[in-house]
Parts: sequence; structure tokens; C-alpha cells
Amino acid sequence: MAASTNQAAWLVKPGAPLEVGDAPLPTAGPGEIVVKNAAVAINPLDCHMQDAGVFVQQWPAIFGCDVAGEVHEVGPEVERFKKGDRVIGHTINLVSGRPRDGAFTYYSVVPTDKAAILPDAISFTHGVVVPFALEAAVCALSLQEPGVAMPGVSTPALRLPYPSLADPVPRVGKTLVVYGGSSSVGSMTTQLATAAGIYVVAVSGAHNFEFSRCCGAVEVLDRKDPEVAEKVLEAIHRLGETEFVGIFDAIATEETYAHDRAILERLGGGHLASVHPPPADLPVNVKAGMIFAVNDVTAPVWRDFVTPALQSGKLQCLPRPKVVGKGLESVQEGLHQSKAGVSASKLVVEL
Ligand SMILES: NC(=O)c1ccc[n+]([C@@H]2O[C@H](COP(=O)([O-])OP(=O)(O)OC[C@H]3O[C@@H](n4cnc5c(N)ncnc54)[C@H](OP(=O)(O)O)[C@@H]3O)[C@@H](O)[C@H]2O)c1
Repeated sequence: MAASTNQAAWLVKPGAPLEVGDAPLPTAGPGEIVVKNAAVAINPLDCHMQDAGVFVQQWPAIFGCDVAGEVHEVGPEVERFKKGDRVIGHTINLVSGRPRDGAFTYYSVVPTDKAAILPDAISFTHGVVVPFALEAAVCALSLQEPGVAMPGVSTPALRLPYPSLADPVPRVGKTLVVYGGSSSVGSMTTQLATAAGIYVVAVSGAHNFEFSRCCGAVEVLDRKDPEVAEKVLEAIHRLGETEFVGIFDAIATEETYAHDRAILERLGGGHLASVHPPPADLPVNVKAGMIFAVNDVTAPVWRDFVTPALQSGKLQCLPRPKVVGKGLESVQEGLHQSKAGVSASKLVVEL
């Protein structure tokens, strides 16, 4: 590709394969940077966008949420970044609908409050696993008031503290269950909750116990154990006099909701924060909501936490990247592989 031209993996209609073709070279507006992408990541949401056109507001579309690369251009009123900086960022096509705000292109626009400097020691391929999962995790943990996730479904408001750079971080005497501890969003929520001083009890596959512990979980229970709800309750009791906050369900299927229900019923209520709309038939005293992973609540984390935490190792680039291929042509293959499912890994395309 020649300098100062752009290309993208375009979605021309729901269900169509992505088509790589020319795209306008975006310019940075106030509070924005243009990133020359070196790596992009694939999320399950991208498959829904391709298959059903959900969240697409403008056709043809460029979508995708995770980028890592070098700052190509800095817009007005931008102080934290300069041209040439190595960054990771969360692209916001999901809410803006604009192709310039999608990830599957060589040059993407990123709002500066959804970007952070990537330390030199971390490759773009590793750094790109962080952005969307981080945005989702902060939305799960730290919203103060319920908002609207989608018509008729509110967002959760767990009001938990932001992650801290303190080492060791003081414990705040609260326990959160993370259902799906090996998923991208679940593992990032485990990392950030742990960095906020919260005890995390994770539910993961037995083959990912060590992975969940590495993210900070103090107890990990086997998702395939038919008694998993009971085991979670026992683990919470082992932690002693901590306040049970609730469950973050990063999987959100009928099976996981059944276990969530059993746990919440036995503990007399709590929050159920989910990645999809929560079920209607929940016990009394359960405050349920679905996260929507684009929100201003994440700005302080992007600004103050991400870079020093990556530098110190408090924030790890997990789950590990699995490189699908190189070039925009490989994004379609990444979407195919995402549908087949991943285990404690994130699909990445290098550009
Ligand atoms: N609402 C929002 O704003 C928002 C934002 C981001 C993501 N999401 C949604 O959140 C979900 C997770 O996304 P992701 O990127 O984190 O997924 P992911 O990393 O692709 O999830 C794969 C992982 O989920 C685990 N898993 C599957 N079924 C499980 C179960 N029953 N119990 C425990 N773990 C289970 C798998 O464990 P094994 O290794 O044991 O197979 C695997 O490690 C997706 O549905 C996505 O669309 C929603």
C-alpha cells in the first residue's frame, strides 16, 4: 500500500464475505488520533455484525473494535499523544456507525480517552488483545448508575472501584464471581477487579485453572462440574467475612444463567452483570443488567492506569494472542476461526 492511501476490509451487506478495497484516509478531529494499525483483534461481536448487520449504521461498513499501532496523526486539543507513539486503542464504530471508527483497516480513528501508550517491551500483537475487553470490564465493574444497554435492558451498576496501581493493592473486603474466567472479557474483568482489591471467584474450564489464577482469581471452579453452583458457594464461604457483590457472567447462556440463579438465590441476592440480556425470572433482590462496552466511565482507566500497569506487569496482555495471518485479507479467516471458538486466547491479525 502506498503512503497516505488506505484500504479496509469492507462489509457490503449482512452475511457477505469481507471485501478488501480502497478506503478514505481518515483525519483526526478534536480529541482524536489516527492510528496506523499494526495489529487488530477479532471479537465474537464481529461475527454477529458480519452475519446479521447488527449495530451497522452505514453501508458499506468497516467494523472491529481493537487496534494497536503507531499514531499517524494527532487532532486538535490532543496532549497525551504525538505522531509516532506506539498505542493501543478501542475503536468506537459500534456507537458512531462511521467506517472511519472501525478497526479492520490500515488507518483507524481512536478517541484519545480510549487509547493508551503501549510500552516498548510489548509487541503490537500482544497489546491488541487488551482494548475492547478492558472497556467491557470497566463497564461491568465501575458504572455508578444503571444506564440503557439496549431498549428495555439496563446496564449494571456495581459501583466497584477502578483498578489501582498500588502494589500490593489493599483488599476492599468484597467478592465477585466471574463466570467465564478464561474468556477475553472474563479474564480482563478478573485482572481489573483484582487490581481494585476485590476477591474474584472464577468459573473456568479445568484446563484453564492456572490461566484464571494468573489473572488474579483466588478460587477457580470447574465449569463442567454439575455441582459448580454449590462449589462457588463453598469458595465464597472459605473467603470468610467479605461482602458478596454479585456475578459477572461473561458467557450468558441458559446453562450459566441457571447456575447464576442458584448462587444468587442462596446468597439472598446481589448483582448479575451480564454480556447479554439477563433472564427475567431472577430471584428477588437481584439487580440485573447487561453491559454495553462503550462508555465514558472507562476514561480514567485508559488515562491513568493502562500504560503504567502494562509497564509494571499489573495488567497482562491476556488471553494470549493467536495470530490468524497477515494483512486485511486474513480478517475474514479470523472471523471464521472466531465462530469455531477459542479457549483462553484472542484471535489477532497482523497488518
Ligand atoms: N455486551 C457487551 O458490551 C459485550 C462486550 C464484549 C463481549 N460481549 C460478549 O461476551 C461474550 C464473551 O466474549 P469474549 O470475547 O470474552 O469470548 P471468548 O474469549 O471468545 O470466550 C471463549 C471462552 O469462553 C469460555 N466458555 C465457554 N462456555 C463457557 C461456560 N459455559 N462456562 C465458562 N466458560 C465458558 C471458553 O472456555 P473453555 O476454554 O473452557 O472452552 C473460552 O475460554 C460474547 O458472547 C461476546 O459477544 C459482550
